[in-house]
Amino acid sequence: MYGEGSMLNSERPKLDRISAEVVCSADYERLAKDYIEDSALHYIQGGSGDERTLAENCAAFEAVQLYTRVLADCSGGTTAFELFGESYRHPIFFAPVAAQTLVHPNGELATARAAELMEACMVTSSLSAYSLEDIAAAAGGRKWFQFYFQTSREQSQALLARAEAAGYSAIVVTLDTPVQTLSRGAQRTGFSLPAHALPANLKNVVREPAINLTTDQSVVFQGAMAEAPKWSDLEWLRSQTQLPLLVKGVTHPDDALRCIDMGVDGLVVSNHGGRSLDGVAASLQLLPHVRAVVPEGYPLLIDGGIRSGSDVFKAIALGANAVMIGRPQLYALAVGGSLGVAHLMKILRDELEVSMALCGCSTLSEISASAIFTKI
Ligand SMILES: Cc1cc2nc3c(=O)[nH]c(=O)nc-3n(C[C@H](O)[C@H](O)[C@H](O)COP(=O)(O)O)c2cc1C
Repeated sequence: MYGEGSMLNSERPKLDRISAEVVCSADYERLAKDYIEDSALHYIQGGSGDERTLAENCAAFEAVQLYTRVLADCSGGTTAFELFGESYRHPIFFAPVAAQTLVHPNGELATARAAELMEACMVTSSLSAYSLEDIAAAAGGRKWFQFYFQTSREQSQALLARAEAAGYSAIVVTLDTPVQTLSRGAQRTGFSLPAHALPANLKNVVREPAINLTTDQSVVFQGAMAEAPKWSDLEWLRSQTQLPLLVKGVTHPDDALRCIDMGVDGLVVSNHGGRSLDGVAASLQLLPHVRAVVPEGYPLLIDGGIRSGSDVFKAIALGANAVMIGRPQLYALAVGGSLGVAHLMKILRDELEVSMALCGCSTLSEISASAIFTKI
């Protein structure tokens, strides 16, 4: 999936304040097209296959309608909450997104500064273009690390140890992309990752020699899936860290239960933003099914298709403790750098507060399915 290439990034307009025409997340997405090279935009924006899941992720939020409530006293309202014994100012996290220098030279460092400014938790990708240590230094207090299994346990252990030493307070292991195809748009435009966006954390990692396949063997089964992590690897990972461990990419309730049995502390209900299997249900549709089987109060996050504070509200009403946003952070980063990402987070936070106030909820724990008009 990752290769060498070159990418424009030099002729970027300077931006020291945000244009008044940017008032919602969709504005950043619209403007980002002028800031991101065409092939990279296809890579970021696209999904797998026919992009049905990609479309469904957003459509599912649009299909949910809410009730408002009158005369509620929300004057003491707050979006603050606790997770794994830590306080968070609000439930909107930055999802792990690889290779952020594709859209801005400061990449993840700029996102991290925005996270710090807006008291948002940043989940740093294993495949970040800056090192996890540099990002940790910029991100301040609230940061988690997204972990991909490496080709050997020694390499996995080393990556984990670095994340712990850098001060990340939770590990999110992503398990939903043992095989992944580029979006068709990215394939057609010949996308490959430029040198400046290659994973900084893995620079010195010596790759195991690729499995030599015979012509009658499958690149999927005997190739990627032979190397992919198994349940025994998750069990091993659980034994390697005292930090809260979350699994990202769970869609099936039975997998959720098996993770919990193994001592996993939280789950991210996610279809990788429609970038894994095309045809899997929207994250928002999956969420209540997972919530129905996990123990009461078990931490569940969701990502995929969240584009407004009202979407955040709906996700919480249907069972999420917190949400993560993926592509929107890249669009804001492309347009406005750190300032843009911080501004995007402020927009989402403000919109969430408006939704809470008009639905009569002073705290996140008051948000429930009773606010949902449309049943999905
Ligand atoms: C360009 C791009 C890179 C991504 N890189 C990673 C990654 O390194 N690790 C990971 O767990 N998820 C990765 N994701 C998936 C996101 O964490 C998240 O699941 C998804 O973007 C959420 O959907 P949304 O974009 O609709 O908000 C990536 C997504 C995009 C668009």
